[in-house]
Amino acid sequence: MTMRRPLIAGNWKMHKTPQETEEFIVEFLSKLANEERIEILIVPPFTSLDRAGKLLKGKSLLLGAQDMHYEAEGAFTGAISARMLKACGCSYVLVGHSERRELFGDDDSVVSRKLNAALRDGLRPILCVGETLSEHDRVEEKITQQLTEDLDGIDEHALAEMTIAYEPIWAIGTGKTATPEVAQETISMIRDWITSHYDNATAQATRILYGGSVKPANAASLLAQRDIDGALVGGASLVAESFFQIVEAARSQ
Ligand code: 13P
Repeated sequence: MTMRRPLIAGNWKMHKTPQETEEFIVEFLSKLANEERIEILIVPPFTSLDRAGKLLKGKSLLLGAQDMHYEAEGAFTGAISARMLKACGCSYVLVGHSERRELFGDDDSVVSRKLNAALRDGLRPILCVGETLSEHDRVEEKITQQLTEDLDGIDEHALAEMTIAYEPIWAIGTGKTATPEVAQETISMIRDWITSHYDNATAQATRILYGGSVKPANAASLLAQRDIDGALVGGASLVAESFFQIVEAARSQ
């Protein structure tokens, strides 16, 4: 028996107005029974968070943000702090999503500062790591380098509070999913890395998700893998019914 609680998270990226967010939430909650065994999380854009937080108060659907700044406040035009996210009802935040790294210049030192700030300010970070297609033949080296730099300053207690998401960049939004075996192999490598840099208890406690073209049709076979503790879903999380089917796949494991 694993002590890790599965997590199904929907990263909406740059999709949905506050009104569209409300429509999704109303529909999704009508399908959802009170959920205790697995955690379910939606990650809408910043502009939807306040409205979503009000609708989700007291519900078992959790709320997260797609990014945050590492400073608490100040002259950082366009940036959002952990305290602002918490005030909207967020309990989670994505850190180091590949789109932030590739399109917005978040390098490993920025990712590390954001991770430390999220933990300091009481948000549970989901650290995203993954390799591009051209890096795929040296995936271990790439992921090891990201983990080493991103987790700088994170002790074993903090790590056990965190979630890691393995998202191969070649599988994001492409319809190309890693096979369950390939996803399992890389995620088990991440767990082994935690064992050797922290300890086995921390490795066993740390939740690790797979992300990259997860859909209702492939969710069950991915989630059946021993080391895969849930999914970070992009496109298929935008429609309440398909996100719900992925949740159902996790429940029936
Ligand atoms: P897709 O599920 O659309 O491939 O996106 C994955 C992702 O990047 C989730 O963070």
